[in-house]
Amino acid sequence: MKHILIINGPNLNLLGKREPTVYGNQTFEAFFETLKSQFPNVELSYFQSNHEGELIDKIHEAGFSLDGIIMNAGAYTHTSVAIADAIRSVETPVVEVHISNVFKREEFRHHSFLSEACKGCIVGFGLNSYKLAIESFL
Ligand code: DQA
Repeated sequence: MKHILIINGPNLNLLGKREPTVYGNQTFEAFFETLKSQFPNVELSYFQSNHEGELIDKIHEAGFSLDGIIMNAGAYTHTSVAIADAIRSVETPVVEVHISNVFKREEFRHHSFLSEACKGCIVGFGLNSYKLAIESFL
């Protein structure tokens, strides 16, 4: 059984309440239950933190044993060389996801420090971006 970890970065704990016109009405916890039922043959884990160092620690912890990491680094996507370096430092492939289509939004969201370090990127399909990312590992 493949073991895939979803890592969400800052402010994604507020999904469901946060800017619902951009990110939708569903909490990640509720969505995660649906995801698990859609992939009964995948071991799915979930971690969220608002702190850059904790996100890096999690990448290090998971990055030598798991089959895949799905990472939505939130705004750190556009600022964090340290998270990009963490992704480059581990063996587990990382797929970058975004709920919104960042390319349709403000210009500062058009650049990702992470993309170059990732296996691929899935952007703009709402929460379905996470589902597509899981499928990419199967
Ligand atoms: C986001 C896009 C980022 O620009 C933003 O800072 C987020 C969420 C997304 O999933 O669409 O926090 O990563």
